Amino acid sequence: MNDADNTQNSASQPLDERVNNRSQRPVSDAFKAFMASNWAPASKDLPGRDAVAGFAATRRKTVSAQFPGERLVIPAGPPKVRSNDCDYRFRPHSGFAHLTGLGLDHEPDAVLILDPVAEGTGDDGGTHRATLYFRPLAGRDTEQFYADSRSGEFWIGARPTLAEFEARLGLATAHLDGLESAITKNVGAPEIGGTSIRLVRKVDENIDALVDTARYNTAKDPDNLDMGALDALDEKLSEALSEVRLIKDAWEIEQMEVAVAATVEGFEEVVKSLPRALTHARGERVVEGAFFARAREVGNELGYDTIAAAGNNATVLHWTRNTGTVSAGELLLLDAGVEADSLYTADITRTLPANGTFTEIQRKVYEAVLDAADAGFAAARPGTRFREIHTAATTVLAERLASWGLLPVSVEEAISPEGQQHRRWMPHGTSHHLGLDVHDCAQAKRELYLDGILTEGMVFTIEPGLYFKNEDLAIPAEYRGIGVRIEDDILMTADGPVNLSAALPRKAEDVEDWMAGIYREADAGN
Ligand code: GLY
Ligand code: MN
Ligand code: MN
Repeated sequence: MNDADNTQNSASQPLDERVNNRSQRPVSDAFKAFMASNWAPASKDLPGRDAVAGFAATRRKTVSAQFPGERLVIPAGPPKVRSNDCDYRFRPHSGFAHLTGLGLDHEPDAVLILDPVAEGTGDDGGTHRATLYFRPLAGRDTEQFYADSRSGEFWIGARPTLAEFEARLGLATAHLDGLESAITKNVGAPEIGGTSIRLVRKVDENIDALVDTARYNTAKDPDNLDMGALDALDEKLSEALSEVRLIKDAWEIEQMEVAVAATVEGFEEVVKSLPRALTHARGERVVEGAFFARAREVGNELGYDTIAAAGNNATVLHWTRNTGTVSAGELLLLDAGVEADSLYTADITRTLPANGTFTEIQRKVYEAVLDAADAGFAAARPGTRFREIHTAATTVLAERLASWGLLPVSVEEAISPEGQQHRRWMPHGTSHHLGLDVHDCAQAKRELYLDGILTEGMVFTIEPGLYFKNEDLAIPAEYRGIGVRIEDDILMTADGPVNLSAALPRKAEDVEDWMAGIYREADAGN
């Protein structure tokens, strides 16, 4: 389905309009009048306040306090074209979602503006007043209702009104028509009474251009704008939005629990799908599909592309092609996460024996990785540094590799900065922050992230692995084609780490029992 008129012949039709070549929509005034008439009025009932609203207000206040007197511009982003007039499913920028509390597909082209006001007169007595600019639902008597295939209710279903979002979010709302002037009004150097802007860049190129133009037009010496300094201003805002997400509030922790619970269900579905996967030419896709079905049924989406990797494919770190077979006797590495409707995602990996039982060598490698994960878990205490988790986990792996005779140097030499030979088989980091993004808080300063102190409210992964490729001639043949990762989602509390994904078994024998139990239940149901 697409939407455009067919009144022009192709010689006069501009090239960029020809994405809509299939349309048959008439353009007569009679048609327009008929289409805009005789529809039931939309409901005027307003929804209640979202549970997230107060939390989002606190987050905005934390950001506001760092930039008094400056206008902060945080776009959701536009729809992204997949091809011609077909878009990808829309997902807002995570910084926007965090500060508004909006999830699902809310809201293409929207922009949150925190406008500076005199100290104490802003929202909640702060220094900014927030307004959410978006394209509200158009009335059923308008052309947009039936003629706009990207935002009209007739085509894509009802969208929120200004009053609805205001009621749900406790946030002032305004029509996108007022956005340009809201962004550009009074822009200029503070020394001459102007307002300086900070923008989250590279989210919406129209807003980037608007801000660039406003800065250019109001600069004292426009032809010698210090673009580096302006980029640094903007980067500071992105950094702040990342850092404010390092500590999750109570609502976010609840959302992480929702995402993890849905992901656990997805893993159970995958185990159920394995007998079929074992007989299928693209067994990995059977696995991927089983998980995806669950993600869409109970959540919003996948938090990232699923890695469903069997046998040697499990040694390919970013194996998302998932075109391989799944064979009895192989390991299946499944790295998958459901994104909840709130857009928070889990990120869990389990490595399963495809036929339900580990071989001896698989078990040996699996237990080394599990021991490394447990060492990471033991190192994760409030007050220790984030990077200590990686050190603890990889030291265990280096020791194990040495005891198997695989390390070409001593453990001490391998774990020294000059060595690192063990990383041939464990090349990635052990932990990352997790939340709205699978790799959350990515723009935070190193001193707050890798060198940061583990603090109550942080959510992160622990995910060591060992990957022995078929092509690796530095190891005996018996190890080749084995890839193992165990990844859990951890909440730091004042009393220590809590494994949010503990509902999925971790020990080799527990994994085998869990799989057997799922098959027993399935058999009993038949
Ligand atoms: N699934 C991506 C990661 O584990 O970081
Ligand atoms: Mn991860
Ligand atoms: Mn993962």
